[in-house]
Amino acid sequence: MNHLDPARHVRGESQYLDDILVQQGTLYAAVVESPVAHGKLLNIDFEAALQLPGVVRVLTAQDIPGENQIGGIVPDEPLLAEGHVHFRGQPVALVLAETEHQAHAALGHVRVEVSPLPIITDPRVAAAQNELIVPPRTFQIGDTQAAWAQCAHVFEGVAESGGQEHLYIETQGAYAFPTEMGGVRMVSSTQGPTAVQRHTARVLGIGMHQVEVDVTRLGGGFGGKEDQATTWGALAALGAFVVRRPVKLVLDRMADMRMTGKRHPYSSDFKIGLDKNLKLVAYEATFYQNAGAAADLSPAVLERTLFHATNSYFVPNVTATAYSCRTNLPPNTAFRGFGGPQGMFVIESALTCAAEQLGVPVAELQRRNLLREGDVLPYRQPTEGCHAEQAWDTTASLYNLPSLRAEVEAFNAQNKQFKKGLSVMPICFGISFTKTPMNQARALVHIYTDGSVGVSTGAVEMGQGVNTKIMQVAARTLGISPERVKVESTNTTRVANTSPSAASATADLNGKATEMACLALRERLLRLAATDLQMDYEGLTIEGEQVLAAGTPADTTWEKLVSAAYWQRVSLTENAHYATPGIHFDAQTNQGHPFAYHVYGTALTTVTVDCLRGTYTFDAVQIAHDFGQSLHPQIDRGQIEGGLVQGLGWMTLEELVFNDEGRLLSNSLNSYKIPDLYSAPKVIDVHFLDTPGHPNAIMRSKAVGEPPLMYGIGAYFAVRDAIRSFRPGASLPFSAPITPEKVLLSLYPDALLTPACASTTVTTSVAL
Ligand code: MTE
Ligand code: HPA
Ligand code: MOS
Repeated sequence: MNHLDPARHVRGESQYLDDILVQQGTLYAAVVESPVAHGKLLNIDFEAALQLPGVVRVLTAQDIPGENQIGGIVPDEPLLAEGHVHFRGQPVALVLAETEHQAHAALGHVRVEVSPLPIITDPRVAAAQNELIVPPRTFQIGDTQAAWAQCAHVFEGVAESGGQEHLYIETQGAYAFPTEMGGVRMVSSTQGPTAVQRHTARVLGIGMHQVEVDVTRLGGGFGGKEDQATTWGALAALGAFVVRRPVKLVLDRMADMRMTGKRHPYSSDFKIGLDKNLKLVAYEATFYQNAGAAADLSPAVLERTLFHATNSYFVPNVTATAYSCRTNLPPNTAFRGFGGPQGMFVIESALTCAAEQLGVPVAELQRRNLLREGDVLPYRQPTEGCHAEQAWDTTASLYNLPSLRAEVEAFNAQNKQFKKGLSVMPICFGISFTKTPMNQARALVHIYTDGSVGVSTGAVEMGQGVNTKIMQVAARTLGISPERVKVESTNTTRVANTSPSAASATADLNGKATEMACLALRERLLRLAATDLQMDYEGLTIEGEQVLAAGTPADTTWEKLVSAAYWQRVSLTENAHYATPGIHFDAQTNQGHPFAYHVYGTALTTVTVDCLRGTYTFDAVQIAHDFGQSLHPQIDRGQIEGGLVQGLGWMTLEELVFNDEGRLLSNSLNSYKIPDLYSAPKVIDVHFLDTPGHPNAIMRSKAVGEPPLMYGIGAYFAVRDAIRSFRPGASLPFSAPITPEKVLLSLYPDALLTPACASTTVTTSVAL
């Protein structure tokens, strides 16, 4: 059973938004951006732009027929700026022209006048001025204040993690068509077709039934299109609605990087306390999330930071508080891990801080404090089917941690220029949307009279392989060949009110709905067979497209049975609804049972740092991961490898830089470095842990999309370990990404203090 897509991808046959054959009469849209990060919007002068060849219309907030509002959680985000601008790159107006070139050429002829206001880019500054998106949240268990007295060791510190550009290969975009009833139909590169539909309807002032959104596949989303595809869908729809012509809007790479939000940078304080046996007693953390200029998904991301603040460890006393801070940057958004990685980085920093000061290996601290079966997490959900220790111990023995450590030490003793570093990174990640009502899905399954099957769900294929998994579920449940099954595009008219494809839960939710629909169809067909063949229904099955009675072939096949059903007027269509059982969460008390289950694993990372240059290569990352009973080991392995490298990039190379004016300096691939073949680990080993899976996971195959990103956190600590081998006892800040520049400065902290040296050399050479 191969992944459906790769062969089509490499042959260039897969259809993306930009591959759709353009309809005659199509207009192209380009977005006028705010030139400053904060100010009062005085005037938008587009008269000159309208005089240019091919320019048809320039739309501003005044042209919006409905509500100028696309905020999902908090209504604080206009589609087009009105009154004020809040970040550089904020959409201010939309140019519509006959060609893409004409639309872009007109942008420079629109004058946006703004009277500037003070700009905030730092979340701590925002918090000090009470610029918060929502009130702070605190997760608490036990009593940290009382617990400090019981601690033998207490350490405090600060940890910073940077943002991250999604860099999906396919940039954001939409293609909208006016429909005869005064509505719009559109193709959108979105993880959330229903979100695009809902906000477009709101902006246009029409019913959701007048807006149809269709998605075939995305060239990557990674969370960047969970909420933020809405802007481009609604803008294209606005154009189509007003001008009554199709409108295509596709962002070029630099516009996408400038205008869209990213992973949230965090600045955090921690305090950690251990007893004399190095057991964790208490943990306090305060997170300052850089939310950007509007809420977007930040409150939900903030919440997941708190859910994962203690990662894979048991801590009896925890107080974790998080602030979502409003700054004048593009609104930050979902990104693989959804705030979880930021929370985990802080407790890993805290443990490392403690271990370095105590002079013990951090792995010792980590291993002693891993979660065990029945341990209660700070939000009161107990672990159930906990594989934290199994994952750690399997990694340690399979990849021989003790001898690896000895090798690293021996290498470091013999080498001056090159130092190796090592880290162990355990993960525990909760599966479910933390907002319980979002954990629902539907599937619409048609069996056609020739026995072929069409499946529609709310799942969006973005490279993660969900369509292949849904096809497997349908084929397995119906007892037919996967070639009979087509997974249809994701369409709001066929399957309504969908949750975005996110939270790693897409295959679980939509797969379960598909399974339910197929089980119902199978039962209906087999009851018909029982009547027709005058056999007992119990014991009838379909396998390999043959009907079996107690395991032996009966006198009918899949094709015959389907045909018989049609002629006897039995429905060959089923619509099923699935809602994850047993989950709940009270956002007032911050307690409940929010997750369907948890996913566990451990990664072992080895790195070699060139201590002359500050550069590094990852020798190997070796992982034992809890897949449960993997439906598709090939896809799942791909998710681990991709997630790991994406996380490693976030922690090491990818440095987002905004200046004090809120301008993105790392605005292209020249200045924003993502991992390539050379920076990826030379070896990535993935071991499939022997775990039973969970009944809430689709066919016991556990969700795999986000968890592996957090293995990448190990990369940071491996590099840090190597630096401390070069400079034993060095006190280094916890600041990610640990770029080669930062490594070099950590290796030679005095270098910065002697700039005179360089200038003297220059003067001398000039004099000569
Ligand atoms: N893998 C690929 N190839 N492309 C993507 O965009 N998104 C990730 C992950 N893996 C992504 C990916 C994110 S952020 C999530 S939440 C999950 O896939 C979503 O899909 P799933 O729920 O089917 O795992
Ligand atoms: N994870 C990912 N995406 C989400 C979530 C979540 O918990 N909640 C809302 N969108
Ligand atoms: Mo993933 S960040 O939940 O789209």
